[in-house]
This record gives sequence, C-alpha cells and structure tokens, in this order.
Amino acid sequence: MMPADTQPRTVRVDLADRGYDVVIGPGLLETLPQRLDAMVMRPRAAFIVADANVADASGRCRESLERSGIAVGVTTIHATEPGKSIATLAEILRSLGEARIERGEPVVAIGGGITGDLGGFAAAVYRRGVPVIQCPTTLLAMVDASVGGKTGANLAIGDTLQKNMVGAFHQPSLVLADTRTLGTLPDREFKAGLAECLKHALLGGCLGDTDHLGWFESNTERVLRREADAVAELIHRSVAFKAAVVAGDEFELAEDTPGRVGRALLNLGHTFAHAMETLKGASPAGRPADSPLLHGEAVALGLLCAAETSAALGLIDRGLGPRIARALEACGLPTRAAGLPDAMRLLSLMGADKKTSGGRLRLVLPTPGCTARVVVSPEVSAVEAGWAAIKGA
Ligand code: GLY
Repeated sequence: MMPADTQPRTVRVDLADRGYDVVIGPGLLETLPQRLDAMVMRPRAAFIVADANVADASGRCRESLERSGIAVGVTTIHATEPGKSIATLAEILRSLGEARIERGEPVVAIGGGITGDLGGFAAAVYRRGVPVIQCPTTLLAMVDASVGGKTGANLAIGDTLQKNMVGAFHQPSLVLADTRTLGTLPDREFKAGLAECLKHALLGGCLGDTDHLGWFESNTERVLRREADAVAELIHRSVAFKAAVVAGDEFELAEDTPGRVGRALLNLGHTFAHAMETLKGASPAGRPADSPLLHGEAVALGLLCAAETSAALGLIDRGLGPRIARALEACGLPTRAAGLPDAMRLLSLMGADKKTSGGRLRLVLPTPGCTARVVVSPEVSAVEAGWAAIKGA
C-alpha cells in the first residue's frame, strides 16, 4: 500500500549551533525552497547528488528549487558498496567545481545511505565545507544514516573493501524524510530498513524507553503493510532515539564514560555485520548464493550474533536471542546466513573492523532492560557462539 497523506512530524537534533530538524512525512521534497527560506538560507544555487534509481524524487526536488529561482546542478551516482569510493567522491567534487558551487550553497543528497554518505562527505570537504541537506529515500537511511552527520567512503585495501574507512563528521542543515519515496522501495529493501529500527528498539532502555521494543513487535504487521501512520510512527520513534543519542555524544567519544549513553552503542550488531559484508560469499540462507546480504540484513543477523554472544558471556539471559529471531522472522528478515567461512576467519574479519582499538576487539553487546554496553576483548568462545547461532546452509 502506498503511504497515504499524514501531517509531517519533526524531530530536533539538539546540537546547539549545529542543531537541525528531521522532518518526516509525504511530499516533503517539494517543500525544500520554503524550508531553506525559513532557515534564512537563500542560495543562488544548489547541487543535487542523487541515486540513479530515484529520478522521480530528484526531479520533484529540482523543479521546486528551480521554480523558486535557485539554479540547480545535478549528478547521479550508482549506489553500490564498491562504488562508494574515493573515485566517486572525486567525480562529485569535480561536478561541484564545474557547477561553480560556492560556500553557503548546499549539496542536496537524495537516495539511500550510500548517496547520503558520499554526498555528505563531498559537502564536508568541498571548499572546506558547504551545507548538506539530507533527503533519504530508503527506510534504512531515514532512520539511521541521514541523521547524525557521519559521512564517508569505503577504501579498498588489498583485496578487502574497508567500509567507511574515510570520512568526516558533517551535520546536515536539514533532513527531509519524504515518505512518498517509500512507495516504490522494493520489499526486500524496506524489510532491511526494519533491522535498524529493531536495533534502536533493542537500545530503547538506554534512554528509559523500555516500551519501544514492545511497540515494534506489536506493530510489525501494520508496518509491513506500509500503513502510513504506522510507518511514520516507526520512523519518528527511531529518529527521536537516534537524535537523542547523537545530541549526547556527537563525536562518539563517550563509550567508556559511566552514566552517558555513548553513540558507540548504535554499533550494536554492526561489527558482526561488517565482517559479513566484507566477505564476498555471504548471503541470506535460502536465497541464491549470488545474492549478497543487504546492509540491513547483515545488521539483522549481527543483532542475533550479539545477543547470543552476550548470553554466552552471561551478560543477558538466553531468552533475548530467540526473541530477536522471532522479531526478525515477523519482519521477513533472515536469521541465518549461508556462505560463512570458519570462525577464525570471521574473527579476523571482525578484527579488521575500524571499531577495534589498540588491536583489541570492542563489541557492543545487549544487556538487560533493552540496554547495551561495550565489551573489550570478549572471550573468543563467546563470539564463536554468536556466529554459530546464525550459520546456515
Ligand atoms: N550508524 C551509527 C551512527 O550514526 O553513529
């Protein structure tokens, strides 16, 4: 079902002079000129960096900007992990230069997380920084990548693609999550976005919201039917959670500070996920072997690995893993991966993740009451138990 019209909802990311609104609702791309005006941004020109798959969304945005007298340059990119490269970044930067984009004139990134990360990175470094407006068009990017200012590109080192190995913190000036764009999002990608929503629900207790997981579980069917109010509520809850975490630890420095909810906790499941994404042969069990895991699918599996690792370390009871598995099944997300190598190789891939420090593995693991903590150098046998939980044929 196409999302029906609902009133926009706004979440403020409270970062003093770098604070901004995340607006969620249908048909928002057309409202960009008025929103720029309200922010006292009256640029001569703007530059759209768009995923080639979202020509309609990009066209709607371009027309509205041009109607209000703003000159618009556009570049389209093919959003793939290998293409999320320094070479693509250089192409975007060249296009910005050719369009004579000046300081104060925004980059408008329209697409999923790859487009947002690359467009944001280009904005962070072009002329030492121009504003970026993030316009996520996937559920995953709406609830995660577009909020919080992380930008970047992958780096190929040897035969391994190191994800997000280079980048910058560059907060957007505005995020427009136009839910109309979800109407054409393929089912598999929509479901992949639910994994990041589930991750936020599993962390809700860190900010005192222990109802978030229950809400997620009770509303999965409505969300899967893409009922407008359920989808908007899901995005709103997820963004509000992420915004609060980012506001408390913008630069991910607080992980070891007692009493503070560190941004590092948002990496729950991600060290496992990045190891799987680094592999060439991993796929969701039951799908063709040449069907690589989407990022959200890898996160879904990573959440399960993290829960089982935590249970093996005695940090949480054994019920959480099966509860996560039931939630994933209800979302149509995988609970098993095919094509995983042996545990030693997986452990070495986890060690290659950029979240290791001083050669020590740092894992975010769930703890009771929908909370989590960073565990440094967890016992190898516990991590192996985590991997064993998702190994499929
Ligand atoms: N995706 C995790 C973060 O933004 O910190």
